[in-house]
Amino acid sequence: MTPAQMERTPFADLDGQPSEMTGMLLEALEAMGRHPEIRRVRETAMAALNPSPGARLLDAGSGGGDVARWLAAKVGTASGLGAPVGGAAGGFGAAGVGAVGVGGAATGVGAGGVGAVGVGGAADDRGAAGEVIALDYSAAMTAAAVERHDGSNVRYTSGDVTALDLPADSVDGVWCERVLQHVDDADSAIAELIRVTRPGGRVCLIDTDWASLAFDGVPPALARTVIAAMHGRLTPRQRDMGRTLRRRLVDAHLADVEATPVTCLFADPASAAVVLPMVNPMVPQEVWMTPPGVREEWFSRVDEAGDRGDFLAVLTIWVVVGTVV
Ligand SMILES: C[S@@+](CC[C@H](N)C(=O)[O-])C[C@H]1O[C@@H](n2cnc3c(N)ncnc32)[C@H](O)[C@@H]1O
Repeated sequence: MTPAQMERTPFADLDGQPSEMTGMLLEALEAMGRHPEIRRVRETAMAALNPSPGARLLDAGSGGGDVARWLAAKVGTASGLGAPVGGAAGGFGAAGVGAVGVGGAATGVGAGGVGAVGVGGAADDRGAAGEVIALDYSAAMTAAAVERHDGSNVRYTSGDVTALDLPADSVDGVWCERVLQHVDDADSAIAELIRVTRPGGRVCLIDTDWASLAFDGVPPALARTVIAAMHGRLTPRQRDMGRTLRRRLVDAHLADVEATPVTCLFADPASAAVVLPMVNPMVPQEVWMTPPGVREEWFSRVDEAGDRGDFLAVLTIWVVVGTVV
C-alpha cells in the first residue's frame, strides 16, 4: 500500500524506516501519550467527542493503539469488554477491512448505525458492547498495537485514511489524532472520515499547529534556524494543519463545528523533549539538517536555559469536532 504521503517525515512512512527508527518512534509516541500536556489535549478531545456506551468508533491513524483502547473503555461495558469472539458478528465484520481479529462486538452491530444518539450507539439496538476500529497504514505500527492489546473491544487493521475500506455510515464517531499533517491531501482524508460516519455521528480531528511553536530563554535567531531546519524533516511540511481543521470541517458542511486550541506549555527541556524533536537529544544527529555546530550550540543554550529555570516552549494543538449531517 502506498498512500499519498507527505515526503520525508518519518510518521508519513513508518514502514519505510529502519526498524530501530520505527521502534524509537513508537516509544516516542507512547511517551507523548503519557505527557500531561498531551493528556490534556486528549481529555479535551474526549469531552468534545463524548462517546456513549455502545458506540462504534474509528481511530484513524491509531499508532500504538493507546487511544483506541481508551475509547473502547468509554464505549464498552463490563459485559462487552474483552468479548473473545475474534471479530464482529454484525455488518461491520462483513466489510472485510483486514482486521487482525482481536476482540469484536459480541452482539448484533449493524453497519447502519441505526438509532444511535450523539456519538453513542443505542444500547437497545446493539447490545451493550461498543467497539473501536484502530486503523493505521503502517503494518509495523499495527503489529505493535496488537501486541499491546488489553482485551478491550478493539479491532486492529491496516488501512489508508485517504481510502478507507469501510462501508458508508458504518461508524458513530471518528478520532483522528496527529495524522492529517502527514498526508498529502487532508481534505480527501476528511471526506473519507465523513463518508464512513453515519448522519448524526461526530468527527473529531486533532492536529498540531507547528507554525505556533515558540521558544523563550534561548537566542531567538538560533531558535528560528533550528525550527526552519526541522521543517519538512522531523516536523511536517503542513505546519499549520491544526488551525486549518475548523475551516476544512466547515467547508465539508459539517454542523456544530467546535474548535478548541490547546496551547501546550513546556517549562523545562526534559518535558519539551518528549513532544518536540528539536529539543530531544536522542534524535539522531544525522537527521538534523543544520549547518555544522548549530546542533551543539542549540543544545548547550537549551541546557543553560534549563539550568537557569527560564526555558520555555509552547505549541498549540487543535481539537476540532463536527457533526455529520
Ligand atoms: C504521529 S502518529 C499519531 C498516532 C496516534 N494517533 C497518536 O496520536 O498517538 C501518526 C500515525 O498516523 C499513521 N499514518 C500516517 N499516514 C497514514 C495514512 N495515510 N492512513 C492511516 N494512517 C496513517 C502513521 O503510521 C502513524 O502511526
